[in-house]
Amino acid sequence: MIRLLVTGGLGFIGSHFIEYMLEKYPSLHIVNLDAATYAGNPDNTESFRNNPSYRWIRGDIRSAEQIRQAFVDQIDGVVHFAAESHVDRSISTPDLFAETNVLGTLNLLEEARRHNVKKFVHVSTDEVYGSLGDDGFFTEQSPLAPNSPYAASKAGSDLLARSYYHTYGLPVIITRCSNNYGPRQFPEKLIPTIITRALKNRKIPIYGDGKNVRDWLHVTDHCRAVDLALRQGSPGEVYNIGGHNEMSNLKLAEYILDLLGKPHSLLEFVTDRLGHDNRYAIDPSKTQGELGWKPAIYLAEGLDSTVKWYVQSEEWLRRIESGEYRGGL
Ligand SMILES: NC(=O)c1ccc[n+]([C@@H]2O[C@H](COP(=O)([O-])OP(=O)(O)OC[C@H]3O[C@@H](n4cnc5c(N)ncnc54)[C@H](O)[C@@H]3O)[C@@H](O)[C@H]2O)c1
Repeated sequence: MIRLLVTGGLGFIGSHFIEYMLEKYPSLHIVNLDAATYAGNPDNTESFRNNPSYRWIRGDIRSAEQIRQAFVDQIDGVVHFAAESHVDRSISTPDLFAETNVLGTLNLLEEARRHNVKKFVHVSTDEVYGSLGDDGFFTEQSPLAPNSPYAASKAGSDLLARSYYHTYGLPVIITRCSNNYGPRQFPEKLIPTIITRALKNRKIPIYGDGKNVRDWLHVTDHCRAVDLALRQGSPGEVYNIGGHNEMSNLKLAEYILDLLGKPHSLLEFVTDRLGHDNRYAIDPSKTQGELGWKPAIYLAEGLDSTVKWYVQSEEWLRRIESGEYRGGL
């Protein structure tokens, strides 16, 4: 039996990853270590929470003691998603981001080292590379130049992960993905904000002039890449993940409004985010060449199905808006 520890599995990407892995590998066992912060939604695990191969341990990676509970049974590999992930929140509470993303990752690396895990995939972001001008792409060799407390805390965790490979020989693999979208993304993020506000005919805030460019990838394509990195990635290596789907925030918002048949007049330009990065764009050729990965979902197709999912998921949204999703926790 192979037992994987996944952290952050109540969140957006982590819950998709667990769903994907349990379906693809019926003999796999998954332990999900998640503190159930505001971003951790037990409703996200509905499709697999009763699977006997799955177990959720409520634990906070800021506590070494709570991490130890997840290692009571043999753990063969770790896939580390748990993080504070919202840039705006990092601007108001940078200390929490340092605690969870940097110290939490250090605690997890240390426990993984003590247990000689065979693979440790550290899930990171293209935001660690900072901002691009109007051309060029981030490669794995691009210097780390984070601009927000979120990106800086992720860069700090990447460097600790790297050091555990070089110092202790822990088989660490780092993945850096571009912006994800898809079902079950917490409503405060850009695409769900556009959809959920448009559905209620509410104004949709667009930072600055809306010309900031992001490189979008469907969450399932990200999960497939993380699985490949786990199984075939070389320890000590970094893999960039992205689908060459660049779009400005304004174009994206207009595109989604068109899908919903709503007027562009719902868009409202607001004061720009502090330190707002101009453009992200990933060069994924190493991941494509070495891991045989390529995205399977075109942006138009993925946005269409994502919009439909939010339209049909009133109850999921209602439980978040009312706070009921955290009830009983
Ligand atoms: N969303 C994106 O576009 C994107 C892109 C690239 C990389 N990433 C990375 O992927 C990972 C997952 O992102 P997401 O969008 O699913 O985030 P999310 O905010 O939806 O989920 C984060 C999960 O981590 C859990 N968590 C937070 N703090 C914790 C703690 N102290 N202890 C234990 N669990 C804790 C939360 O409860 C939640 O379930 C993050 O590491 C993020 O940096 C995200």
